[in-house]
Amino acid sequence: MSLVTTYNQVQEAAAYIQSRTSHQPEIGLILGSGLGVLSNLVENPTTIAYEDIPHFPKSTVEGHAGELLIGTIRGRTVMLMKGRFHIYEGYGPELTAFPVRVMKAVGVKQLLVTNAAGGINTAYHAGDLMLISDHLNLTARNPLIGPNDEQFGVRFPDMSEAYSKRLRAIAKEVAARHSFTFQEGVYVGLLGPNYETPAEIRMMRTLGADAVGMSTVSEVIVARHAGLEVLGISCISNMAAGILDQPLSHEEVMETAEQVKEQFLGLVLDIIPAM
Ligand code: HPA
Repeated sequence: MSLVTTYNQVQEAAAYIQSRTSHQPEIGLILGSGLGVLSNLVENPTTIAYEDIPHFPKSTVEGHAGELLIGTIRGRTVMLMKGRFHIYEGYGPELTAFPVRVMKAVGVKQLLVTNAAGGINTAYHAGDLMLISDHLNLTARNPLIGPNDEQFGVRFPDMSEAYSKRLRAIAKEVAARHSFTFQEGVYVGLLGPNYETPAEIRMMRTLGADAVGMSTVSEVIVARHAGLEVLGISCISNMAAGILDQPLSHEEVMETAEQVKEQFLGLVLDIIPAM
């Protein structure tokens, strides 16, 4: 396989998906670790295993299923990724964002990305939900490296409003009707797969990050390249390394996601029809 995703590959993946469903998706959803529960709420879903879709990578991490669901949520037609691809799995960043290009090719206009993230801001608590206001790409990788195909987007995409102001305003308005804390902050994306050292967390706090994770930034770069409007929500699944006197684990991330799933679902279900 060549390093760079071709327009034909994306078209083939999109054509396959369209051959399997009569739904016409408008909103793309990417669910992070432990947040796959939203997929249960898709009505009349067409479910497609990633492995059946031409050129799609396969997901390898526990807690990240590999299925695409296309159906409706509160009257909007969505294409939902249950499980995403991470650079730490060994995929190039352009491959982790391949599904975003496929979303665009099937007609999606807006992307809602979610993830589990470690809280860097010391005012945060495990279990908080955070609206992503912006991100820092500290993966030292970029999904747009290589010759630029103008059919995907421009060579030098603008990132000054990576996370749509309009969608953020809607998310905040919706969250205000719920009783939980809705933080707003900057997400820093790292490669992983190890959790950070306390020194790295102090550095990232100094750099302006509020939460840290190992996903999202490649997807959002490709989404903006494709002209999709993006909204991002993090579940603060743990406080980042060195803040509390305790080690970090994937089990804790999954447990916290499980505990906040009702709040997360309530929020996302109310945001989707308002997007
Ligand atoms: N660091 C990086 N990624 C994460 C974390 C963290 O603390 N929690 C969940 N994803």
